Amino acid sequence: MNDRTHSLIDKLPKAELHLHIEGTLEPEMMLALAKRNNVSLPYDSVEEIRAAYEFDGLQDFLDLYYAGMSVLIEARDFHDLTWAYLEKVAEQGVTHVEIFFDPQGHTDRGVAFETVLGGIVSALEQGQTELGITSRLIMCFLRHLPEEQAFDALHSACRHKDHIHAVGLDSGEAGNPPANFARVYEAARREGFIAVAHAGEEGPAEYVSDALDILKVSRVDHGNHALDDPALVARLVREKTPLTMCPLSNLRLKGIASMAEQPVKRAMDAGLLVTVNSDDPSYFGGYINDNYEAVTDALGLSTDEVVTLAKNSFAASFLPDAEKQAGIDAVERHAETFIRNAD
Ligand code: ADE
Ligand code: ZN
Repeated sequence: MNDRTHSLIDKLPKAELHLHIEGTLEPEMMLALAKRNNVSLPYDSVEEIRAAYEFDGLQDFLDLYYAGMSVLIEARDFHDLTWAYLEKVAEQGVTHVEIFFDPQGHTDRGVAFETVLGGIVSALEQGQTELGITSRLIMCFLRHLPEEQAFDALHSACRHKDHIHAVGLDSGEAGNPPANFARVYEAARREGFIAVAHAGEEGPAEYVSDALDILKVSRVDHGNHALDDPALVARLVREKTPLTMCPLSNLRLKGIASMAEQPVKRAMDAGLLVTVNSDDPSYFGGYINDNYEAVTDALGLSTDEVVTLAKNSFAASFLPDAEKQAGIDAVERHAETFIRNAD
């Protein structure tokens, strides 16, 4: 363990760009909301819930993730969930968040799109005024469901362009290639949404190329398997396409056998614009700083490399250029003060 670098990470300004708000549902809140909303869960205690968080892979996790969502019903549930996340990461130096939400996971259960969005947005607005955290919202299509349901979500999103910045693609990757969503992404881009997609998490490098070529994404979520294809890496470097990696998620979902295999350092060394994020922190055992610390320890990252990751998080964000630069400058100032005080 590297105590000095951990202290640098602690309050280092950073942006989180790969975070599923439903994946921040802590067991304590799951039980409290189940009680508040009269939802029955197959668990009676926090310990029982945590004991279930042993995953064989992505699908095994997703089964639990969708089951957990059943307690989220009213706008105030989505508000409380989002607010709890913001309060937590405000303590970890986070000043900007780009948050995924999965409306189909809620509308399928009879919860209105506006209920979900209203609760999340009210917390994000409170986050800006009370915590100084800026935000963007990314609406994800569930790739295991048919294209027409993705179109339904897109039609809802079109009524709320003031609050939804981008569209994304998540859920089970294997056997659900980007090409299945070519038309809905084309329509989304035409409506002015930026495009991102999960690709190369469990799927092959080809899914990353397809996300670029067919979905025309501006950023790739995970992208681990892009590193299997040197020509694709060269393209991502050339086009400066960011990857939003999630180390603890990779470990918990068995994409890697140990943190030593996590590719964030290899990606940085190859010249990629890579960032570190938490994905579904409640389920994977750590928020953003736990992810920074895990890769720092396992891969022996230098303080300079940690600072680069934090700068990358702003550079890869959807903030306007002046705000990106302000974030990068804040990282630099923090690092300089830290190094001066440590000497
Ligand atoms: N939904 C929530 N977390 C996810 C992940 N890591 N991959 C795909 N879909 C998700
Ligand atoms: Zn994800």
